[in-house]
Parts: sequence; C-alpha cells; structure tokens
Amino acid sequence: MIPEQREAMDEIVGKIRSGRMTRRTFLERAVAIGLSSTAAVSLLEACGGTTNTTGGNGATTNVTWQSEHDASGTYQSLVDTFNKLNNGVHVTYTNGPTDTGQLLTIFTTMLRARSNSYDVMSMDIIWPPEFGANGWTAPISTTQWPTSERANYLPGPIQGCTYNGQLWAAPLRTDVGLIYYRTDLIPTPPNSWNDLVSMAKSVSPSKVKYGYLWQGAQYEGLVCDFVEVLYGYGGNVLDPANPKSVTVNSPAAQQALAEMVSWVGTISPAAVTTFKEEDARTSWQNGDAAFMRNWPYAYSLGQDPTSSKIVGKYDVHPMLYGGSNTVGHSNIGGWQLGINAYSKVTDAAWTFVHYMLSSAAQTSLATGASTLSTLESIYTDPTVLAKVPFFAKVPDIVKQALPRPVSPFYPDISNAIQQRIHDALTKASTVPAALSALQSDLQAIVSK
Ligand code: GLC
Repeated sequence: MIPEQREAMDEIVGKIRSGRMTRRTFLERAVAIGLSSTAAVSLLEACGGTTNTTGGNGATTNVTWQSEHDASGTYQSLVDTFNKLNNGVHVTYTNGPTDTGQLLTIFTTMLRARSNSYDVMSMDIIWPPEFGANGWTAPISTTQWPTSERANYLPGPIQGCTYNGQLWAAPLRTDVGLIYYRTDLIPTPPNSWNDLVSMAKSVSPSKVKYGYLWQGAQYEGLVCDFVEVLYGYGGNVLDPANPKSVTVNSPAAQQALAEMVSWVGTISPAAVTTFKEEDARTSWQNGDAAFMRNWPYAYSLGQDPTSSKIVGKYDVHPMLYGGSNTVGHSNIGGWQLGINAYSKVTDAAWTFVHYMLSSAAQTSLATGASTLSTLESIYTDPTVLAKVPFFAKVPDIVKQALPRPVSPFYPDISNAIQQRIHDALTKASTVPAALSALQSDLQAIVSK
C-alpha cells in the first residue's frame, strides 16, 4: 500500500471508529482506495463498524466543532442543550486556544491536508476572505439561511463573512474593544487617553497596583489595541479610499504609538508587552488595576464571585480618543461559524450552526458569556439587559467601531504591525524608526 493509500485508510478507520462516517461511505471509500469489497466488509467489522449514522430511523450524525477559547463554559452548555434535542445530530465540542493565531494554525494545517477532523470551525472576523479565496468553507446559501431571516442580524458581521458575493460563514457573535473601569475608584470614566492616564496615576499605585491593563504581546490582539489608539488620534494604517496607499507613518500615528510606549512600566506593568486578553483579565479580576482594555467576554467572568474579587465594582465605557479628536473607535472583532468544505456532514453541521444563530442560543451567549449577539433583537430584550446592562450602550459603540485594515494581504499586514509595534513597546526601536519601518513593510506588502 502506498503512503497515500495508508493515510486515506487511517482516516476512514479513524472516522468509522469514532462514529463519524456511515457504513456505506466507509465501504465506498475503502473500495475506492483499492480494497476488494470482501476485504472492505471484513475491515468494517474489525472496526466495530456498526456505529451510528446508518441512515435508518433514529440515526445520529456526529458533528465536531472546534471553537475559539470560551472561558465561561457557555459553548459547552449550548452544545449539551443542542444534543438533548435528539434531532439526529450530535455535536462534539472542543474548546480552543486563547490566541487566535494558534487557532488559525490548527485550521490551516487541517484544511491544507483536506482533512475534516472538525466539521464546524469558529472563525475570527479577519479570516473569511482567506477561507473564501481558498474554498475552505462550504458557502451558506439563501435556501439554508433565507434572506428574510438574515435581515434580523447585524449587517456588519454578515458583511465580514462575505467574500466574492458569497457567505462563507455564519456570524455567531461580534466583538468591540471596551474600556473597563473600577467604579469604586473612578467616579466618572475618562473620555480621552489623557484623562485615563491622569486618573490611572491618581489611584495607582496608592490604591491599586496598576493603572491600566491591555494587550501588548506580539500577536493579533496587539493589532487591535494599536489600531484603537491610532484611530482615536485620527490616524489610519491604509488610506480607506485607496488600500494600496499606506498611511501609517503619520503625525497621528507618532502620537498614538508614543502614547502607548509611555504606558509601559508606568501606568501599565512592564510585563504588559507579554499580555494577551486572558493575562489582562486575570490580573483585572484579581483587583489589580483601575482600568483595562478588553472585549465584552470579560464582563460576565468578572461578575463570578468564585473567581473575581471585583464583583459589582466595575463598568464599561466606549473607546477613548486623543489629540484634537473627540470620538473614539473600538476595533471590530468577532467570531463566525464556518462549515469545513471537506466535511462529509455539511447538512448536519448546518443544523447545529443554525441552532447557534437562534434567539435561544443568542440569548444564552449574551447572558452567559456576555458576548455580543449578531441577532439585533437581543439588545432590547429586557431579560438580557437585566443580566448584562452594558448591552444598552453597545449599539452606539458598534456604530463608531472600525475594522482592522481591510486587504487581501491582511495576514502579512498583521504580522508586520505585530512586529514593528512590539519593537517600539519593548524599546527595541524608537517610535519614529518603528513607524518608518512599518510604512516600508506595508508598502511592499500592498504593492505585491
Ligand atoms: C477577539 C476578537 C478577534 C481578535 C482577537 C485578538 O477574540 O473577537 O476578532 O482577532 O480577539 O486577540
């Protein structure tokens, strides 16, 4: 047997054993790989291949879902609820890594091998163009998800899932950067970065260890934190009217980056240059800081008395601004559910994805994980507002929110930003040197 046949054989054996392939498909694939039908039947029996998915009455199709990180347990409980529906689809759920870049590596490795270890993939809002261009997800048709139903969901995330006129994933939840502040220490929240710095200094280290926690590690999250400060100063990475024109080395960017550098080791711990979302959240919940920049998911976790020392002592505020600007802009994040194009159970996968878009699931996500629904009606639902009152502020924040640079070269753009901005934060380079190097990096990338 040549290595490719061995690999294909291992794959179908693995699937039939885990109940993720029908007997019929197994037999068809085994014969296609080169086994005689008698040998295929014997192998099936040896694998105990009398599993589910036989297609008869009461049969169950197994679907696997690899999500992004969920520290709240809400995804698992939604999967449990779904599985109890006994609707012929059973979902096996795997919680994901805390770094979106690591999750992307898991998926790209799987997809380049045309594997279907995961039928449903949680996809970051920055991925649909890449996945669409590679045909890595099964597009969602209007027969599956009718236009009349789509109209009930936020247009931005749907737009983010669209590439070349097709919808490559279903928008599960959106995300915006928020300023968390301690209401017991800061009576009136800041509006500008200057306000935040002076308020942070007035309470830290006297009353609280740190002034401000954010995400300064060299990874995707740093791009989000950087563009928020940059946009708040009126700067941009690329010219919105001409994405071939790089505008990052501007006076606004000089001010924005100098501002961020000035926080490191003063109002923020020196180790902030290694912080991702969960590092910031853990320290925040421990009561270490007056302010934190994070996504909405940190709201409900901070209200859990078993793990948080600041229950009832904080609120969230829209993103801040600097220089002569008067409006802040959160960065838009968010997560979608894409169906692996190599999955053999795309219909069953859609049944699950559709359930996750339902009002019941969106309500659970909002109340259990405080993540931002894509279903618009959730923001005016009194049950939701009682549990997560900050949802009332969200529609206005979403209106001002801006994406990371939109470009077919986004992965390279992101890597360059991560590296150059991190160099400035760790003082491996000066602010002017970092921005001028970033300008040349990006110019080379967008001119490809
Ligand atoms: C959040 C956002 C996602 C972003 C990531 C960066 O998960 O939803 O869009 O890429 O944070 O760490």
